[in-house]
Amino acid sequence: MSKSDLYDQLASQLSSLLAGEHDLIANAANFSSLIFHSLSDLNWAGFYFLHDGELVLGPFLGKPACVRIAIGQGVCGTAAAKQETVIVWNVHEFPGHIACDSASNSEIVVPIFKRDQLFGVLDLDSHALSRFDHDDGRGLERLVDIFVKSLE
Ligand code: SME
Repeated sequence: MSKSDLYDQLASQLSSLLAGEHDLIANAANFSSLIFHSLSDLNWAGFYFLHDGELVLGPFLGKPACVRIAIGQGVCGTAAAKQETVIVWNVHEFPGHIACDSASNSEIVVPIFKRDQLFGVLDLDSHALSRFDHDDGRGLERLVDIFVKSLE
């Protein structure tokens, strides 16, 4: 299946999964699980939400992770500061990368906006190098839009 077909399928599955439910924790938990079990080669998938000016760990699948990340720190804090998707082909070459799971080798972080304000980030880690590309970025941004709409 092509990446574009895969993300089309995931968009439709996510819409069904979240339909009629507006709870943040429930929808974030189900969204993480769907991604973790549908995309190949992931070792971590989940959320950090913005609380009082820092990113705080939300629902995820994977090994336990650091709880608080300052804006501008690590890959998550960089995506939050730049307010754009950050793709890291090799986390060991990213200055300031925060290693929560030593198995992680590549990472993608997608910022989440609610009513044009930064609300948090979606973070995916892989043990494979160069696991994520711009097609993943576009596909995940589309899934994040579905997630944000479900909260209204
Ligand atoms: N690697 C991230 C920290 C979060 S964990 O990967 C779950 C970072 O550098 O921001």
